[in-house]
Amino acid sequence: MLCLGVETSCDETSAAVVENGTRIRSNIIASQISVHRKYGGVVPELASRHHVERICQVVDCALQEAEVTLEDLDLIGVTAGPGLVGALLVGLSYGKALAFGAGIPFVGVHHLEGHIHAVRLEKKVAFPFLCLVVSGGHTELIEVRRFGEYTVLGKTRDDAAGEAFDKVAKMLGLGYPGGPILDELARRGDSCFTDFPRSLLAEGSLEFSFSGVKTSVLNFLRRNGWGPTGEGSEELHVHLPHIAASFQAAVVDVLLEKSMAAMEQQGLTRLVVAGGVAANRYLRERFETTVRKAGHELLIPSPILCTDNAAMIAAVATYRFEAGHESRLDLNAKAHLPLLAAESDS
Ligand code: KG4
Ligand code: ZN
Repeated sequence: MLCLGVETSCDETSAAVVENGTRIRSNIIASQISVHRKYGGVVPELASRHHVERICQVVDCALQEAEVTLEDLDLIGVTAGPGLVGALLVGLSYGKALAFGAGIPFVGVHHLEGHIHAVRLEKKVAFPFLCLVVSGGHTELIEVRRFGEYTVLGKTRDDAAGEAFDKVAKMLGLGYPGGPILDELARRGDSCFTDFPRSLLAEGSLEFSFSGVKTSVLNFLRRNGWGPTGEGSEELHVHLPHIAASFQAAVVDVLLEKSMAAMEQQGLTRLVVAGGVAANRYLRERFETTVRKAGHELLIPSPILCTDNAAMIAAVATYRFEAGHESRLDLNAKAHLPLLAAESDS
């Protein structure tokens, strides 16, 4: 079963060929970071236009690298939501047209379902497991009983973890995207430099809130007379690695504590961490130590499979197709799409 996956939900134009839902034959990711950097975040209209400009080349490249042609494909899987609707429409229209032209089935995929199962492209994962999805748009704890059977145990009430990374980096005058920049800086920093608040909400709550820690970074900058963007401050420059490390520690402490609590509450012994923020080195180290110490199994994909990629979309399309699902060609892109609705759209 050879599946071509296409992913254009945000600022990465990606196409991949995956064999039998597990073997990556190619995974091409064209990032638009240089386009959006000067605006300090993703500009939806520009994202759509750049997807249009690149999609043909990215798909051709994925087929070439996999040494296959359109005729060799059995299936096409495309992200149908959630995401930026204009961006999603580019990949979805292109994928549907390719499937129609080649006379092969097409499956629309939920972006989060892609993240949840990305690790299966590298490792065998037994069910059930808890999945912590931490990305730029989502922070959710999801119990995965088997493929397609999900219970959302908790999610963020405000900012997603990745969004907090991006906003804090912007406040510090560090540019976009903030996650990888703070990750790199924090390696030289002291996480005990200052104590940003850990927002645990009510006792036993599995919900998250990251707007408080973001505001406390802003207040910390103001208190020290460094201003919101920190421009021109030599002193701030010296302290940046420590602020980055302290901020990361506050976010990761909360993610870790709630993940462990959710495992205990649901009687689960296997944890998958997925999404762009799972590429963070400090997060990976902390989860490794704590989860293993508790005697649980921890699975985190390689960084390239944590951030947005089409291989995870091809994998989920394959699993869905094998479970008897196929999407109609009038499937529309959706900016908001609950995880449980993924199936009803097929
Ligand atoms: O999963 P993803 O590629 O896209 C979404 O579905 O949102 O995640 C992107 C997010 C961004 O907020 C980015 O800053 C964050 O993941 N990110 C990181 C790292 N790499 C990407 N955050 C912390 N540390 C990283 N190394
Ligand atoms: Zn994503």
